[in-house]
Amino acid sequence: VLVSGSYTSVPVNLKSQFRQFIYLWSFQRKGAALDVAHMIREAREISADVKDKFGIDLIDKEILEIGPGPFLVQARYFAAKNKVVGIDSDVISDRFSIRKSAQMLRANGAFRTFKTMARKAAGIDRIYRSEICRELGIARVPQVQVEHGDATALPFNDAQFDFVHCRSVVHSVPEPERAVREMARVVRPGGVVHLDLHLYASYNGALDPRTMTGTDSTYYWAHLRSPDGAKDMALLNRLRLQEWNALFHELLPGCLVRATRSDERIRAIGEEFQTRGELKEYSIEELTSHALDVLWRKPGGSPEALISRGSS
Ligand SMILES: C[S@@+](CC[C@H](N)C(=O)[O-])C[C@H]1O[C@@H](n2cnc3c(N)ncnc32)[C@H](O)[C@@H]1O
Repeated sequence: VLVSGSYTSVPVNLKSQFRQFIYLWSFQRKGAALDVAHMIREAREISADVKDKFGIDLIDKEILEIGPGPFLVQARYFAAKNKVVGIDSDVISDRFSIRKSAQMLRANGAFRTFKTMARKAAGIDRIYRSEICRELGIARVPQVQVEHGDATALPFNDAQFDFVHCRSVVHSVPEPERAVREMARVVRPGGVVHLDLHLYASYNGALDPRTMTGTDSTYYWAHLRSPDGAKDMALLNRLRLQEWNALFHELLPGCLVRATRSDERIRAIGEEFQTRGELKEYSIEELTSHALDVLWRKPGGSPEALISRGSS
């Protein structure tokens, strides 16, 4: 029997937030090297894909990174050879400063500001920076300017960027079509958008940390199996696979949409739940697709028209 136990709801109170924070903290401390290596490998693959499919070298380009998050791993990878601007709905501070800390307190709230400070004090940001340097074989971490703003109302001109990149963000935007429209607006004709997202109908679609590690299947698809009892640990919009597909094909005509499938073990667990009469309204394909990535070249322009502007 692959499936055992039953899901108990997780109250998202201060205590459970604190527990989650300790979990993430120890995960980030121990996992920084692996995390950075994984994200840099992924960014290299994206760059290779953009070159292979469209003949565009991501060198000396103007790049927008939407939702870079606190560690700026992929933003810094691109910034090593390009001019990169980030935008995030959180105030992201690369280095400690009183002004940034006050902005952070106003925008991110006291608890998240405390988490950021504790993370910096524990040296986790420093570990990430040195891992990035090690991976890229450089001495100083590339700087990225991150503005505070919303993916659904980008404070940039039409056709301002050669490449727009957005990792692991649109699944938490309540109106993702507005964010995707904005990406299409700010990229130049001939330029490229790449984004990826996590799917809500996947086994770990509620981003419950207990589904991220170990082999305990108790919590797999818990948010779909007992939606009244289960609490999402992160706010994901609930778009279904077919809704995402329709949205991308409408707003980014001709785009390439690829699904990442879960492994055979997870598929077998999903099939067992279905045999027990659960998760019947989902196809096994949807249940075992956990992420989507989208690659789109805006019509018009040409690779040569994306002028080199000199790296920062
Ligand atoms: C899961 S993190 C991903 C961080 C980074 N891209 C990565 O893959 O490691 C999501 C990031 O997107 C940001 N974000 C969420 N909603 C946003 C929005 N509407 N506009 C801009 N940023 C947003 C969050 O503040 C956070 O930094």
